Amino acid sequence: MYTGLLHTHKLLVLLFLIHYVVKLLLLQLGKSEQLAKYTKVTKVPEMIISFGFLATGVWMMLQGALFNNLIVIKLICIFTAIPLAVIGFKKSNKALATLAVILIIASYGLAEMNRSKKTGKKIDTSAAASPLEAGKMIYENSCVNCHGSDGKTGNSGAKNLAATTLTIEEQKERIRKGKNAMPAYSDEIISESDLDAVIEYLGTFKQ
Ligand code: HEC
Repeated sequence: MYTGLLHTHKLLVLLFLIHYVVKLLLLQLGKSEQLAKYTKVTKVPEMIISFGFLATGVWMMLQGALFNNLIVIKLICIFTAIPLAVIGFKKSNKALATLAVILIIASYGLAEMNRSKKTGKKIDTSAAASPLEAGKMIYENSCVNCHGSDGKTGNSGAKNLAATTLTIEEQKERIRKGKNAMPAYSDEIISESDLDAVIEYLGTFKQ
């Protein structure tokens, strides 16, 4: 459910962004007739797209998307951009319209940055007495927000780790590469040996 929303949301935001870049280009190039025509033709689709991305965004938040500073800045950008865009294009004010499009692009970029930021910092496991303990340390710090302490919580569309059908290798690959809302953890964040330790810890959920 969450993952479907995420894809729909991303697609709608991208369409919205492209639509406004086209409008800005027409405005900047002084093609006011074409701009008026384009605006008229795209009026209804634009309403559907904007409603769609706001609705999917709110819906994802209700489904347990994680809040952080980047998301808050992203929201401020987008809610500033929309009125600026409306006024900027209505009054053919190039500066305002450009600012609005920059803000839309910025909020899109922030959403992408958010993905890598979620991996957080490297966890020092040198004090752990065993690999299993090291795995638990990493899990409790980096994974628990989405997967829950029993591995079964599904925040942000996270999969139930106690019921995974993936092989060990596939699980490792998923942790390294990420998927949908699942962040990608490079070996700078989780070393090879720590990755083995986390996998060992995930195994305890199955019992
Ligand atoms: C921001 C939320 C989030 C965090 C943090 C997170 N995950 Fe995930 N995880 C997900 C989501 C969402 C999926 C499902 C991806 C998909 O297949 O669509 C997932 C899937 C997985 C899977 C594959 C399960 C399956 O059966 O497909 C594994 C393994 C996994 N996560 C391990 C981890 C580990 C280990 C950590 C911590 C190092 C972690 N995750 C941190 C959200 C998260």
